[in-house]
Amino acid sequence: MSGGDIDEKHMRRALALATLGRGTTSPNPLVGAVLARGARVLGQGFHRRPGEPHAESLALAQVRTTTGATLYTNLEPCCHTGRTPPCVGAIVRAQVGRVVAAMRDPNPRVNGRGFRALRRHGVEVEVGLLRDEAARLNEAFVKRASTGLPFVTLKGASSLDGRIATRTGDSKWITSTFARRHARLLRVEHDAIVVGIGTALADDPRLNRRPRTAGAGPLVRVVLDRNLRLSVRSRLVSTPREGPVLVFCGPDATPAKRRRLVAAGVEIINVPVLGGRLDLKAVLRHLAERGLMRVLVEGGGELHASFLERQLADRLVLYVAPRLIGGTDARPLFGGEGIAEMKRAPVLRSTRCSRIGDGWMIEGALS
Ligand SMILES: NC(=O)c1ccc[n+]([C@@H]2O[C@H](COP(=O)([O-])OP(=O)(O)OC[C@H]3O[C@@H](n4cnc5c(N)ncnc54)[C@H](OP(=O)(O)O)[C@@H]3O)[C@@H](O)[C@H]2O)c1
Repeated sequence: MSGGDIDEKHMRRALALATLGRGTTSPNPLVGAVLARGARVLGQGFHRRPGEPHAESLALAQVRTTTGATLYTNLEPCCHTGRTPPCVGAIVRAQVGRVVAAMRDPNPRVNGRGFRALRRHGVEVEVGLLRDEAARLNEAFVKRASTGLPFVTLKGASSLDGRIATRTGDSKWITSTFARRHARLLRVEHDAIVVGIGTALADDPRLNRRPRTAGAGPLVRVVLDRNLRLSVRSRLVSTPREGPVLVFCGPDATPAKRRRLVAAGVEIINVPVLGGRLDLKAVLRHLAERGLMRVLVEGGGELHASFLERQLADRLVLYVAPRLIGGTDARPLFGGEGIAEMKRAPVLRSTRCSRIGDGWMIEGALS
């Protein structure tokens, strides 16, 4: 095996290790590390959750001597003290001669400083091996660090003709049990679920995370509700153990409604209103500031349409059932005004289609 092949093999292992932290590392990135001499792996690790050791330290802790060893990691080692000491210091102290990293850490506190510090201490640094895979793996972390917004996935379930409820509002159920179970798993890798008040009133959902993920923080449940129409008797409000409930409202929500929801344990956040709707960017900025990196928007059609119109969604996951609902008054997957010209239609990129039960799951990138 050539040196390049060995490097790639170890980096793929570091990337695979990093994925083991999925669902538990937010707001930290997914990081895996492998310490190797030639083809031989000496130590390895991955970051499990905030406050726990970083991948590099775990890999280093498994070896006594690092002579001639290379450390492979999918993200630039940190150089600042957070809840854990900086990894650069540990690497330098362990006298590792070479570090191969897939990408720079876009966090403004790191952003190349880790690499510079390593080089200053005589460590050979190579950056860019499997960069695209690494950037995809940490797409949410990269987005939050570079834009201050979380990574947004729109999730919907529709009939073959794009309806999410019949003209009478009946929506249970469009897709098969199998598809619904599959869709629930999406919640595991997200930090927050968002719905519009239309969905909260029509479906009275609980928005819980089942199965529970060991070590994951609570799933934050979010409702966008300009005038605070959410009932204190709703399932969302009456199941505080399933996770905190945040309700975003506009300036016209009455103090009495606020008081009632706050007394029931709901957190109310004011955001500005833009064109008659809550300002989604302000909502997302608030969620990112709370450390929520991955947000799953579960409808309904009006809210999905707003995310699309404002180009604030990154990914679409759509479960399509082999049913036809029809009717001009049946609820569409995307409501709102829609686009006027075909050339302005958002196009899904990197699409994937899988067979789920008797229907399909179609997913793709939106931005
Ligand atoms: N099959 C599926 O995947 C699926 C998923 C979810 C829901 N559903 C179905 O969809 C129906 C509900 O959908 P819907 O379209 O009527 O309601 P929705 O999208 O859930 O909620 C829309 C409401 O949310 C509030 N809102 C606050 N900020 C907003 C913003 N920036 N953009 C858009 N809305 C905002 C608005 O009410 P205020 O002005 O009062 O704030 C708006 O009327 C139900 O029948 C439900 O069963 C189906």
